[in-house]
Amino acid sequence: MNIHIIGGGNLGVAIAVGLANFSKGNHITITRRNTAQIQHLSQNGITVSSNNIENIDQADVIILTIKPYQIDTVVNEILPHISNKIIASAVSGVSLETLQQKTKVAHPIVRIMPNIAAQFAESATCISFSEKNKEAGEQVVSLFNHLGTAIVIEEKLMDAATVLGACGTAYALRYIRASMQAGIEIGFDAQTALAIASQTAKGAAKMALEEKIHPEQLIDRVTTPQGCTIVGLNEMEHQGFSSALIRGIKTSLLKIKE
Ligand SMILES: NC(=O)c1ccc[n+]([C@@H]2O[C@H](COP(=O)([O-])OP(=O)(O)OC[C@H]3O[C@@H](n4cnc5c(N)ncnc54)[C@H](OP(=O)(O)O)[C@@H]3O)[C@@H](O)[C@H]2O)c1
Repeated sequence: MNIHIIGGGNLGVAIAVGLANFSKGNHITITRRNTAQIQHLSQNGITVSSNNIENIDQADVIILTIKPYQIDTVVNEILPHISNKIIASAVSGVSLETLQQKTKVAHPIVRIMPNIAAQFAESATCISFSEKNKEAGEQVVSLFNHLGTAIVIEEKLMDAATVLGACGTAYALRYIRASMQAGIEIGFDAQTALAIASQTAKGAAKMALEEKIHPEQLIDRVTTPQGCTIVGLNEMEHQGFSSALIRGIKTSLLKIKE
């Protein structure tokens, strides 16, 4: 496929690299105004440009990874140069209806909410689209299934998906950082602590994904009665571990809805 990514920042680059890795047959273009920081991507076969409209007429899918306040400028710039293109927008907080109004004519619009693990084909990407754009939506789902797991959701859950899936990367990394800090305190050097904490989190996630059972059932396999795991877990709960996470996620959602 020919994929044109507008907004070569954190997310745009992660998607571009992920797509370039999964199939060398894809032609990927990524744009931003100041390309100095992403010129290295051309070594992966990715076309890097500061021109949003160069070759855009050849794109199968246009992916928007710009900030919400940049959308009008970008849409007004590209609209005269495209007809009937799939536009997949990762721009948070901008609805399908608003995007459809801004793009005026009959471009199929799809909303996507990936995360930066797309770079390693491990994104949880939530996707929504209207019934009339089902065909385009399914193409985008298929594309993002190559970058991890693509999940079709109702649009009203897009803000929640942003928090749980996209912001969730930061929450999970903070868990890993805290484990690493504890690991150093109990005797490991930083690199070893990071390796153990990261792989353990990855292993736990893999079990939850593969076995599709409640995490507590997996926890039961690790907790010996009167053992060291359960006393540690209970102490974490006494200190508000689950509560802190739940409250943090709900606070992020309140912020996104402001
Ligand atoms: N980061 C995440 O984990 C994540 C996850 C899900 C969704 N999102 C959403 O994705 C969007 C991008 O987030 P981000 O974190 O990747 O932001 P970012 O790092 O700031 O990237 C935005 C990029 O857009 C470029 N840009 C700005 N104006 C442009 C224009 N007129 N033409 C072309 N490129 C332009 C900027 O580069 P120049 O200034 O050089 O042009 C910048 O590199 C946001 O709406 C965000 O909510 C982000």
